[in-house]
Amino acid sequence: MLEQVSTLAPAKAAGDDIILDVAAACCRFDVSAPALSRLFSHEPRRILRAVESVSFTVRRGTTFSIVGESGCGKSTLARMVVGLQRPTEGRLSFRDIRRADGTIGPPRVQMIFQDPYASLNPRWRVGDIIAEPIRELKLRSGEAAVQQRVGDLLEVVGLSRTDASRYPHAFSGGQRQRISIARALATEADFLVCDEPTSALDVSVQAQILNLMVRLQKEFGLTYLFISHNLSVVRHMSDELAIMYLGRFVEAGPAEQVFTRPQHPYTRLLLDTIPDVERPNRERRPMSGEVPSPINPPAGCTFNPRCAQAADRCRVERPELRQLGGVSVSCHFA
Ligand SMILES: Nc1ncnc2c1ncn2[C@@H]1O[C@H](COP(=O)(O)OP(=O)(O)OP(=O)(O)O)[C@@H](O)[C@H]1O
Ligand SMILES: [Mg+2]
Repeated sequence: MLEQVSTLAPAKAAGDDIILDVAAACCRFDVSAPALSRLFSHEPRRILRAVESVSFTVRRGTTFSIVGESGCGKSTLARMVVGLQRPTEGRLSFRDIRRADGTIGPPRVQMIFQDPYASLNPRWRVGDIIAEPIRELKLRSGEAAVQQRVGDLLEVVGLSRTDASRYPHAFSGGQRQRISIARALATEADFLVCDEPTSALDVSVQAQILNLMVRLQKEFGLTYLFISHNLSVVRHMSDELAIMYLGRFVEAGPAEQVFTRPQHPYTRLLLDTIPDVERPNRERRPMSGEVPSPINPPAGCTFNPRCAQAADRCRVERPELRQLGGVSVSCHFA
């Protein structure tokens, strides 16, 4: 059943190959008032810096996670990776990969969204939603082969073949996310950009979808760029982890290291917000303060207004990302 889906090399064999290279990517939006009213009010242009000089690489068959609070630029970065948003500066490039069938070419990239109901056409039966990319990309010849593949994909994601004849509204949130994943697999995707794929689900369903994603990654050698505002969600599935704040990475490196030895005060604050069942009474610092506006970011380190450690230097000099024992950190005191 599964061999039809598995056109990819196993993850381990390809684990060291870089599949995505992002170099100093920036995305700025001009949010100025209309030119005429600016002329009368003498208002300057207003530029919103959604993503500022972000660089990273993703290795094939691994999961690179990006975590940060609402508005820090995660979705904008995801949209740049899938080509829905053009970078204002910098470069994002996918490297050619060799598939198990010997063909070499750019990876197929698909996006999985937070709200599976909005991303599935409510008027189409699930079978047609999944069959569309197979027909469009001519991945199977003949209707019988297309239907066979649709049924196989439904089973791969834990649904039943008969679900093909139902409409999206007849499914729960978790089941709808399974349909979105089946649709992404239908394109024979190599690289999935998952923008908060489980944030709309309750905790137990969230765990089921994450387990499914981990299993599919192992089975088909998929590569994930996984976005979340919740560190605990990404803990068990990330190889690399980047913490994003106001458009920039403030800490990035091997996930386990970032979790066990966080260097940046913001990473420590985010970790403090995770409940720990073994130490429910530990001292926890609450996350305080508002995220500043990306139109008028604070001078110096953008985290300084919320940082307990901030000193004069932090208010004037922006810390560069620098290597520190295997991770990159941007903090004057790390
Ligand atoms: N097309 C746009 N035009 C103007 N501003 C935009 C546009 N898209 C995003 N922004 C702004 O860019 C910033 C980053 O937005 P983005 O959606 O990437 O954040 P996010 O980290 O995904 O947040 P959330 O966790 O709420 O999804 C926000 O301040 C947002 O208002
Ligand atoms: Mg978002």
